[in-house]
Amino acid sequence: MTLPRAGDLVLLVGADRKRYLIRLQPGAQWFSHRGSIAHDELIGRPLGRTVYTHQGAAFLALEPSTNDLIQELPRSTQIIYGKDAAQIVLRLSLYPGRTVVEAGTGSGGLTFILARAVMPTGHVYSYETRPDSFETAQQNLADLGLSAYVTLYNEDIAAGFHERDVDALFLDVREPWLFLDHTWETLKGSGFFGALAPTVNQVSALLEALERRPFGDLSVEEVLVRPYKPVPARLRPEDRMVAHSAFLVFARKIAAGDESLGWMPEKKRRAYLGKLAMAQREAAQTAAETTP
Ligand SMILES: C[S@@+](CC[C@H](N)C(=O)[O-])C[C@H]1O[C@@H](n2cnc3c(N)ncnc32)[C@H](O)[C@@H]1O
Repeated sequence: MTLPRAGDLVLLVGADRKRYLIRLQPGAQWFSHRGSIAHDELIGRPLGRTVYTHQGAAFLALEPSTNDLIQELPRSTQIIYGKDAAQIVLRLSLYPGRTVVEAGTGSGGLTFILARAVMPTGHVYSYETRPDSFETAQQNLADLGLSAYVTLYNEDIAAGFHERDVDALFLDVREPWLFLDHTWETLKGSGFFGALAPTVNQVSALLEALERRPFGDLSVEEVLVRPYKPVPARLRPEDRMVAHSAFLVFARKIAAGDESLGWMPEKKRRAYLGKLAMAQREAAQTAAETTP
């Protein structure tokens, strides 16, 4: 953002460090308990400076960060925490030009972060069953100017994904282990898989399901961010922090039956290859029986 225009979002930070996000409208006023500020005082004028309410209270006017925007996003579902979203972008190796599939969209919190990471040459494909969440996400992404980089589907991923050979796929649904076969079909070889799960029980179920399929390089992580009071003479952590949001599980797609299955523990690898060989024998037998 160079100079803020009508329709842009601007962040106001008070002396008490409280943050307010406002969308600029010509002729409108922003009201606080310490007085009001005319939007026209911000439109077309530089940011990074102090503005004053009619009662003389000072606010710092800034361009909002991605973290500010996600925290203020209108929501109809639990939204991703910035700390988790940042780690997801890193671990899914997302950068401009990449393609990523996501479910469920929810209010579009993570969709927003994914789109900012892959734009302008990449694309996000996101699935959501609930019509109300689908509409909230559609509106949020339009308000953030990101609709061109996202395809939203109001669909259940139980029916599979439309895309193939995507770089990465992320699941934020209650039972991600149910969708691993569709996930595998959709990812490109060695593609990046990630999922978010609030409880350890969900993580265990997901790990077990991943281990039974051609996925490798599994990991489980939790991101903790401890904010500090930025006072040089009395530098110490804030009294409160987000103790738990969710666990993040990551894995990579590997080729079915590939020698790389050697990364599996011996017992699991033999069981998997045995099952695969049996399926191949059955398919060959069926083909032989149906050939005239
Ligand atoms: C916790 S929310 C996702 C929040 C989102 N990551 C965000 O940051 O805003 C989970 C969403 O997944 C959706 N969902 C659950 N099962 C689904 C399925 N099988 N197909 C598509 N969406 C699904 C739910 O309706 C819900 O909106």
